[in-house]
Amino acid sequence: MTDDTPTDTDADDSRVDPERRRHLPDGGTAAGADDVTLDPWGSSTIADYRKLFEEFGIEEFDELIESVPNPHYLMRRGVIFGHRDYGPVAEALRNDDPAAVLSGFMPTGDPHIGHKLVFDEIIWHQQQGAEAYGLIADLEAHAARGLTWAEIDEHARDYLLSLLALGFDPDEGELYRQSGNREVQDLAFELGSKARFAEFEGIYGFDSETSISHMQSVVTQMADILYPQMEEPKPTVIPVGPDQDPHVRLSRDLAARMRFFKVTEAYFSQELDDAERALVAEAYGTLAGRADAGQEVRCVHGAQYLVDPDAVTLDADRPTVEVSELDDPVRASAVKKLQNAGMEPLRPRVRFLDRNASPDAFEDLVERIDGEKRRYDEHVDAFDLSPEDAEALAREVEVDNGGYGFHMPSSVYHRFMTGLTGGKMSSSIPASHISLLDDPAEGYDKVKSATTGGRDTAEEQRELGGEADKCPVYELYAYLLSGDDDDFAKRVYDECVGGERLCGDCKEQAAQLMKEFLAEHQEKRAEAEELLDGLDIELESPRRRVAGEGGGDD
Ligand code: TRP
Ligand code: SF4
Repeated sequence: MTDDTPTDTDADDSRVDPERRRHLPDGGTAAGADDVTLDPWGSSTIADYRKLFEEFGIEEFDELIESVPNPHYLMRRGVIFGHRDYGPVAEALRNDDPAAVLSGFMPTGDPHIGHKLVFDEIIWHQQQGAEAYGLIADLEAHAARGLTWAEIDEHARDYLLSLLALGFDPDEGELYRQSGNREVQDLAFELGSKARFAEFEGIYGFDSETSISHMQSVVTQMADILYPQMEEPKPTVIPVGPDQDPHVRLSRDLAARMRFFKVTEAYFSQELDDAERALVAEAYGTLAGRADAGQEVRCVHGAQYLVDPDAVTLDADRPTVEVSELDDPVRASAVKKLQNAGMEPLRPRVRFLDRNASPDAFEDLVERIDGEKRRYDEHVDAFDLSPEDAEALAREVEVDNGGYGFHMPSSVYHRFMTGLTGGKMSSSIPASHISLLDDPAEGYDKVKSATTGGRDTAEEQRELGGEADKCPVYELYAYLLSGDDDDFAKRVYDECVGGERLCGDCKEQAAQLMKEFLAEHQEKRAEAEELLDGLDIELESPRRRVAGEGGGDD
């Protein structure tokens, strides 16, 4: 494999410090793929994972791995590289509190070793005590990819069998098809009332040619993601590739929009945005420190402080401030709001904003707030509650009054596997991937003919070492063939880059291991047939061929 022209943001950590990066290939420096767009229906290769942190706000998994109990090898090796808000899930797993994991699969082809990563993530979370859900995104495959129901039925079965064969426990979880899950479809409908077409245009590039079913498949996925919380709210993780991040972000927004109350921190009657609030918090903090007994910090003082911190006198009657001299628009608007509030006391509090609550639920909330409180038309302020307690109370009141009380779903992101022929691993290029249904001998052959990070000659390789970081075969070791054995993965890496390992033998070993894996997996799949047939899941769709099927709108 040849590298793309390196740029300064392009250098993968693994080349700088292999120890820290846990010996990972760069997972997709496929030629030409240096733009980072997150498109769930596009063909995703991610050239530079770092941009995902900078441009999309995905957080680094490394930073929180310490808080994860018994981290999975995919986490330890940095294959799972990013997350959104995984902290609450890790905490729930640590404390044996309720948590859930859910992911979905479009049955557009055979399940392959890339899908196995997600199967493993679901199963691992299940083993750590989370409720587990695996779903077949058949509505999406039909609407967005135009597959017929017959094709979908065939692939759906294959995904489910592999998931079971790898250890998914249906007694502690649920497998379903979107088309067969009435609750999901009903929830999708409700969520649709909180989503706007303009948003879909912005997020997914939908336009006047996009079919309504495709749009419906989006709200269906939103409902999938929130489905684990229908009985009871709980932290939920969605393990996916980073291409699914737009869906995750939308689901987080929709979950928040469904809530009865929004809890914020406030200092006086008016609403502030986050930036204004930070300024007001600072003003309050300093002035409260300066106040003598009997003196009260008022909004005008806060305004004055933000204009000139040294000119404030707390006993001044009604000081006026010149706002026009402020360049910073945030500061200017904070000052204006404070001035409007005049002699109103400036005091920290938590605020419950009424978003979707019924009058009864609002009443119930007001009643259940302990300590000093102040009630307004559309919000209520509580002076003796911590933000955490307020958040918990808001959820409790919502659930007791018939709402869902959704937690915003969390996600973890794994690297895409590089194709065996270089480039990206794709379901539509058989030689690029190893299907979980491939005959073991075929799997063996595919590994034997894979591209490597080897040098041109054995001498050169002994001298310079191989480039494990760019080697799809090494990736097979790291992502799959080493299993839980970190020492083995590290040994392969060290031997490769140290020049002791030559590609011929290395591939032979990998091919052998792949053959064994496939043989064993397929045996387990055969055993899982009976289990699957006993589950309450419709394996043959009653849906018929419909006019226009096979199109999709892509
Ligand atoms: N859109 C996903 C894909 O393209 C499939 C999917 C449907 C999904 N519902 C989901 C993934 C819920 C995660 C969670 O593969
Ligand atoms: Fe890849 Fe193995 Fe060759 Fe190293 S020795 S480049 S890991 S095939």
